[in-house]
Formats: sequence, structure tokens, C-alpha cells
Amino acid sequence: MSNIEIQKSSGGLGADVHGVDLSKPLEAHLLSAIKAAWAEHLVLRLPGTRLSDDQLMAFSQNLGPLDMRPVGKAEQKSVPGNHYVTIISNVLENGRPIGGLGNLDAQWHTDMSYKPSPAVASILHAWELPDQGGDTYFCNMYAALEGLPSALRARIEGLQLKHDAGHNSVGGLRRGFEEAVNAKAAQGAIHPLIRTHPVTHRQCLYLGRRQDAYIVGLELGESEALLDEIWAAATYPDYCWQQTWRPHDTVMWDNRCTMHRRDGFPNDQQRIMRRTQIGGDKVN
Ligand code: OGA
Ligand code: MN
Repeated sequence: MSNIEIQKSSGGLGADVHGVDLSKPLEAHLLSAIKAAWAEHLVLRLPGTRLSDDQLMAFSQNLGPLDMRPVGKAEQKSVPGNHYVTIISNVLENGRPIGGLGNLDAQWHTDMSYKPSPAVASILHAWELPDQGGDTYFCNMYAALEGLPSALRARIEGLQLKHDAGHNSVGGLRRGFEEAVNAKAAQGAIHPLIRTHPVTHRQCLYLGRRQDAYIVGLELGESEALLDEIWAAATYPDYCWQQTWRPHDTVMWDNRCTMHRRDGFPNDQQRIMRRTQIGGDKVN
């Protein structure tokens, strides 16, 4: 039996997993160890060799059903002919981007929170990396909730947040959307601001992203002020972990209880990542 080793990161979440060959079907004991470590550490980093799209899909499927990306419509470009693997990249081919997000800073967010059933997890696999920049940061949203001042926590208990669907994490307008007049008018799914994780049964903050977010039922100004207050308390460095990518790292994160952001990088360098996503789950 192969041995797995889990090494907690020095940050507020995250762990390295050693002893797993992602290019092969996982033995049952390894899969249960990975799932347990994932529930405990929220983000896992697994080193390895470059995975084919089929290998990345096969590994990802262990965590749940893959989200299908409609080819040609998705914000993040699909691998040609593959409905499940998308590309995150700044590379242009014939003047057109091969992937999503370009080279800019991506703001704190959690994936697909603007949908009624947001993606449970995302899995990102590094093919090619820039010499500098392009690090990804993760934030522990259990810790963010637990760290809120008690008066603030009491104020947000039971509140619902509308998550803007109009913009992506680099602030660009998604296809088919126009700039909303204000956050109150923006379109997107509504979820509880404090959610309960269906696996760990622990409560965490669920913020999605800051841009055009709106707390249902409040005056716009009140909502903006309260959101600013929550956000200021939510992403303390102590809750976070910085992932500096190494070639062929695979990082899997739980969108239900983490946020992530990415540093920009020079656009004369190439960053090419392959990505899968585990299908949606209602937010409770
Ligand atoms: C994503 C994402 C960040 C990165 O794939 O959802 O936000 O580091 N990626 O590319
Ligand atoms: Mn993302």
C-alpha cells in the first residue's frame, strides 16, 4: 500500500499532500485520506508530473461530478473538444486568448457564487508559469467568521447576500451583461451570508466577491458600509496562505469555505493552467 503524507502549511489553511500519483487511479485508502485532509485543510497542493486532460478529469471526478462548460459560451475557454477542462491563461493564439483571466490581478472571490448552485470545488493544474507573479492566495472563511467582532457577527446573522453575476474576478464584464446602475440593481444569485458547510457542518462566511455585492433588504449605502466592514475583517493575513506555483502542481480548493485571489504577472511571460470544477451544491 502506498503511503500518503499530509503536511500542513504555515498559513491559515492549506496542506501539501505527498505520496499520491495523480496520473493513476487512486486507491480507496488514498482517496479517503485526501478527502479527510481536504475537509481539515480546505486547500490541498499535490506535486507531480504534467497531467493529461483525461488524467486531470479522472482525478477531479473523485471529488464529485464534473461541471460541464458549454463550449464557446464559457467565460473561461474550454480545451477544444473537451467540455470539462478549461484553460486559465494570458496566451494569445492568432490574436485570441486561449484561456480566461489574462495576466491581471484577480480580486478575492469564490468561484461561481453568483449561480443558484455554486461549484463545490475547483482544481487547477500548472502547465507553464511566469518567472515572477501569478501567485494564488487562499483565505479560510471559517476563520474569517470566527474572527469577526461579536457585535458585527450579531448584525449579519440571518442576512442574505446577492452575488453579482456581471463581472469576473479581474473586474471584466461577462458576456451578455451590461454595467448595473448600482449594486442593488445587479443580477445574481442570493445566498446566506453565513453558511453551514454540508460536510464539516461548521459555519463560515460566504462573501463571493466585493464588486456589486448587495445585502438584501438594506439601503444601498447601508449595504456598502456593512460589506466594507465585513470585508475589512475577513481577509487578515493570518487566515490566508500564499501558493507560489511550481510546474505541475495541482491545487484543489473548496469554494464553500475559502476565497482566493491571484497576483498579476508580466504579460510578456506565459502562464498556462488547466482547470476542472466540481458541480454545484445549494447554499444553506
Ligand atoms: C480560478 C482562479 C486563479 C489563478 O481558476 O478560478 O481564480 O491562480 N484562478 O489562476
Ligand atoms: Mn477563481
